Amino acid sequence: MPLIDLRSDTVTRPSAGMLAAMARAETGDDVFGEDPTVKRLESMIAERLGKESALFVPTGTMANQISVGCQTKPGDELICDPQAHVYMWEGGGLARFWGVSTRTLSGPDGLLDLQTLTSAGVRPGDHHYARSRLLSLENTHNRSGGRVVPQDRVQAMCDWAKTNGLARHLDGARLWNASVASGLSLNQLAAPFDTIAICFSKGLGCPMGSAIVGPKELIEGDAHRLRKAMGGGMRQVGVVAASAIFALEHGYVEALSSDHQHAKLLAKSVESSPGIALEFGEPETNLVWIKIDPQLGSARYFATRLKEKGVLVAPLGEQVVRACTHRDVNESQIKQAATAIEQTAESIWRMAP
Ligand SMILES: Cc1ncc(COP(=O)(O)O)c(C=O)c1O
Repeated sequence: MPLIDLRSDTVTRPSAGMLAAMARAETGDDVFGEDPTVKRLESMIAERLGKESALFVPTGTMANQISVGCQTKPGDELICDPQAHVYMWEGGGLARFWGVSTRTLSGPDGLLDLQTLTSAGVRPGDHHYARSRLLSLENTHNRSGGRVVPQDRVQAMCDWAKTNGLARHLDGARLWNASVASGLSLNQLAAPFDTIAICFSKGLGCPMGSAIVGPKELIEGDAHRLRKAMGGGMRQVGVVAASAIFALEHGYVEALSSDHQHAKLLAKSVESSPGIALEFGEPETNLVWIKIDPQLGSARYFATRLKEKGVLVAPLGEQVVRACTHRDVNESQIKQAATAIEQTAESIWRMAP
């Protein structure tokens, strides 16, 4: 029986239609600026996000890191929450590449808010301090349950940052999901930010690829240079860009609403199972974070037992696993996974001391 893989929305394989579009792609050397398919994708994405320009990069991590590199100097301070991907899951890149000092601030519910920012304030303009320079938000917020940050909250924080002379970056790896769940356009969600990182390799089913979106001068200047410096200048990469164009033109964004429905189905099974609980309440998008009662054992143990029933989830903490719905898992597989989750929890619970 093939495993139902819910570890991440990055495990998807390109569909037959997507592969055919990739095979047909017109290409050129993108380092020479000669790949027409990459150029087309960059202008499509800039337009959808309502910004001047975009730059195609291999990964979301590179998109975030280059965005930080373009908007800070060594010794500057970046403000984000302690669970932000850019801080927690990017190999310490903020310090390693940019010499940036990171100030993490925890919001009241796992998401930052204006009150938290104003109480902390920016650093005084005195030579003892790092210069507060960049606010980085994440939407949807992965480690905070795949939740959508309410847009009035985003706007208030970005207004505060602007007033205090900070640039604004959005890690929008799953901004598609935020748009589908909130009913707001990508353009609206991106409006308060200077730069946005967005990924094609997650819910949209592309094999790789992300973009940095922002002002023309930044994208064509520093972002381009940093992409080259980081080894992200690719050649006939139109074959990959074609997968993203295919996804955008064939309703893959709109189809994310099924992933969101599937996450709700999984959540129901979590709620009705002993010893496990939703970490953030009903999922808003495609991520279901599940707390494992220590009486059931560790998250790793739970994931191993669930695998015996044909379902893969990601243990991402001592007592927490993440199940992530995506376009390669259909409703009937989600129902099977939901049953497997219930059965696994019940069988370990019965044996618990
Ligand atoms: C919120 C968020 N930002 C950035 C990334 C990084 O993307 P990549 O794996 O393409 O480097 C991820 C990856 O899962 C993510 O969840």
